[in-house]
Amino acid sequence: MVDRLKLAVLISGRGTNMQALIDACAAADYPAEIVVVLSNEPDAAGLARANEAGIEALVVPHRDYDGREGFEAAVTAALAERGVELIALAGFMRLLTAGFVERWRDRLINIHPSLLPAFKGLDTHERALAAGVRFAGCTVHFVRTEMDSGPIIVQAAVPIGPDDHAASLAARVLEQEHVIYPLAVRLIAEGRVGIEDELVTVDGAAAAGATINPTA
Ligand code: GAR
Repeated sequence: MVDRLKLAVLISGRGTNMQALIDACAAADYPAEIVVVLSNEPDAAGLARANEAGIEALVVPHRDYDGREGFEAAVTAALAERGVELIALAGFMRLLTAGFVERWRDRLINIHPSLLPAFKGLDTHERALAAGVRFAGCTVHFVRTEMDSGPIIVQAAVPIGPDDHAASLAARVLEQEHVIYPLAVRLIAEGRVGIEDELVTVDGAAAAGATINPTA
């Protein structure tokens, strides 16, 4: 088998995106493997999922460290020790310092539940509904020092219906998160993703038509 890209998944909570990556990696022809799941929260439900899949589940509790630097140094040491080549943040709810982001520059990606650069931060679905936008969605992007910013790799747009509320929208967006995160990791692992002037290029990608809302 060809060498698979060594992936670390960083979580803080339930870990459904991590699970989507675990499921993708289970396919023999998927070009990445998860070498470690790391959580800053000892009680993260995702840790049990990782254990069940036979993947090392490591806890680095941020509360055990005086500052962000100490915590991040421990994370970096654990990942470097395992030969990690790409870090996927999957509901990892700690802000990262510039030092960490630069240490892993272009090897650190995140998934966010909005069509960035719209709706950075929390409560994305509530804010999308309040703004009356017709499309919500999700984004996988390379991480830069400013929160929820950085070159965009993949997005999925999810139309907002008249009866949507935050929970219904979140559920439909989450379904798409589970599609685009494995896709983004695959594109990177296949060496098809480049960054030019802080914009992502994807080898062999074609433009789609239009998606218009409402659908009726
Ligand atoms: C996901 O919706 C992810 O996009 C979001 O947290 C959720 C984690 O769910 N991330 C952020 O808001 C980061 N800014 P999961 O633990 O089930 O994957």
